[in-house]
Amino acid sequence: MIVLDQENKLFTLHTQNTTYQMKADQYRVLLHTYYGPRLRGGDLSRLIQFADRGTSPNPNEAGHRRDYSLDTLPQEYSTCGVGDFRLPSIEFEPADGSRLADLRYTGFELKKGKYALPGLPAFFGGDEWETLVIHLTDSTCKMSVKLYYGVLERCDLITRAVQVVNEGGQAVQLRRCASLCLDLQGGDLDFITFDGCHAQERSLSRSPLRQGVQSVESVRGTSSHHHNPFVILCDHNANEDCGTCYGAMLVYSGNFLAAAERTHLENNRLLLGINPYHFCYTLAPGECFTAPEAALVCSPCGFGQMSRSFHRAIRENLIHDPLEGKRRPVLINNWEATEFGFDAEKLVSIAAAAAPLGIELFVMDDGWFGTRDSDFGGLGDWTVNESKLPGGLGALVPRIHDLGMSFGIWIEPEMVSEDSALYNAHPDWVLEAPNRPFARGRSQLVLDFSRKEVRDHVYGAIKQVLESAEITYVKWDMNRSLTDVWSSALPAGRQGELFHRFVLGVYDILARMRRDFPGILIEGCTGGGGRFDAGMLYYVPQFWCSDNTDAIDRLTIQYGTSFCYPVSTMGAHVSAVPNAQTGRSVSMETRGVVAMAGTFGYEMDLNHTTAEEKETIKRQVAFFKEHYELIQRGDYYRLSDPFHDPFTAWQQVSPDRREALVSLVTHANRAASPFRTVRLRGLDPQAQYRVNGGEAWPGDVLMAAGFPLPMPTGDYQAMQLYLEAE
Ligand code: GLA
Repeated sequence: MIVLDQENKLFTLHTQNTTYQMKADQYRVLLHTYYGPRLRGGDLSRLIQFADRGTSPNPNEAGHRRDYSLDTLPQEYSTCGVGDFRLPSIEFEPADGSRLADLRYTGFELKKGKYALPGLPAFFGGDEWETLVIHLTDSTCKMSVKLYYGVLERCDLITRAVQVVNEGGQAVQLRRCASLCLDLQGGDLDFITFDGCHAQERSLSRSPLRQGVQSVESVRGTSSHHHNPFVILCDHNANEDCGTCYGAMLVYSGNFLAAAERTHLENNRLLLGINPYHFCYTLAPGECFTAPEAALVCSPCGFGQMSRSFHRAIRENLIHDPLEGKRRPVLINNWEATEFGFDAEKLVSIAAAAAPLGIELFVMDDGWFGTRDSDFGGLGDWTVNESKLPGGLGALVPRIHDLGMSFGIWIEPEMVSEDSALYNAHPDWVLEAPNRPFARGRSQLVLDFSRKEVRDHVYGAIKQVLESAEITYVKWDMNRSLTDVWSSALPAGRQGELFHRFVLGVYDILARMRRDFPGILIEGCTGGGGRFDAGMLYYVPQFWCSDNTDAIDRLTIQYGTSFCYPVSTMGAHVSAVPNAQTGRSVSMETRGVVAMAGTFGYEMDLNHTTAEEKETIKRQVAFFKEHYELIQRGDYYRLSDPFHDPFTAWQQVSPDRREALVSLVTHANRAASPFRTVRLRGLDPQAQYRVNGGEAWPGDVLMAAGFPLPMPTGDYQAMQLYLEAE
């Protein structure tokens, strides 16, 4: 609910459990007055304190009033070079070379429904949303700034976006334009980020915010394996069930900056948006720039509720699921089994071993096209390599269908190999700076997706493949970071737009694919989880979590991912042991339980499994299908911290609390291991739950005292408890 007090220029945004407020003051400066647990309302600017702080300047209109400074007051969207020395949200450079921005309130609009952003992904929905647009202007530079707020009450979600229009008569360079600025007055806060690298993505890292700026960012052209565009600010004592926490995500898939600053006055600022590194966007008179959407959830009672709010909002208001209301298929992918070394017979044999176990979709990974026999060639030539697949897809796909399975295919549209017909024909289509040898990444080059003719060509080729056979699933991969970011299609003064234009180009092709093939399920992948972000999830409902398929490493990867992203988005497969990345062997049981915390599939040659393992797989697949709704759409609870506890456990609970599934994996075992219990969450305390069809346990006992765990007899043992209320 958005409440307006026009006379006092006071704007209050209420969600089910939170309140957010801003106010334009007597100088038309937009102050942020409050964000936190829900309050009745009223003018919360009374919380703001004024004092003369010697080094903090005062705006011209304040005259000699020394207790009024942009440097100390909480700003809704911070300015630059005119008195606030903290992180600036926006910076303009007009022809005179000044790099200042001073924004003052000029008006607002209130609308039912949710705003959309041209060419950019954004949360969507009907009339349960409300939109507030606040208008600000820099009157010297004639730049108008619109701050968009979308409110989705039931998910405690507040979205934000920013549009900048050059209303003047001369071009202006936009040098930074954050999507979100959040000033939180006072309080000791922790900053949580999700960091890592290829094969170790989204490891939770938490540290107290100290004076100065702490930040994570990407300058790789993708959101990256290294840091995720999702961060949390929270109370020092916040945990799964208590403490106030603020989760902030960027709905964007390119370079980003998430920076938290704590000042000498113990005020805190969070800034999130496109990274100002290598960003400079020229706005001609009348032109508009739209910054990507950011989304906020504040939970007054810990991380669990924050995550569940994000999960629901992402599932229901961000993702377009082509299988809406239906179950997504359990898949088998040939990559870890064969890499490039396959032919049609090999693929059919993998599918044939999988079909009787209940697996429903066969995915042909990298290596089916052009001269792609290794990662040195072929990318860009999206025509079937008939020496591997005689008769092409027309011959292969019916054989997969005859097994009762559907067919999926791997592509990597943004890339080209030097050894390819495409590169030979269009060497100028890659990102490459004049007179400078380019860098290779995984021996491949990046196509200039800012150029429409490049996108048209690539999309045309891919469309032809997708139309040539009955294909119901696409794995969209992207296996290198961007270097040599220079485009022959842009003038020198506009090269600072290229990183962003590349991302817009990717979104353009994804949007075309969704328009032309609405029934195809697309799984995103970027060398594993290097672009696992809300921007991609708008186009692809699931994303390969990591190239690391070791079940034990996956515990921490999936744990970190779950803070923002729901189970139904996390690509997770059972692979062969010893694991290709770690050399570790864990049981089929354990691998299945871990992969079931995601979109679930297998990535191995099942011809090489024992009869007993096949039986286990059959049971796993049947169990997953039976409990699909609960696993994929149930409310998600983390029951332990895999970095500190002796086991990792998580739980899904049906919205009516009649059903729950607890999954648990023990860590390395030790002798004389103590008795342990796992405390459940989110149950009905009054209900009696039958556990795995046996004994009934009261909900309050399971939550307060916990369920006793069997003594582990080895490392990494898995257990699942299915609870049904009597
Ligand atoms: C990336 C993906 C893998 C696989 C290979 C194929 O690494 O993450 O899953 O598709 O590419 O080259």
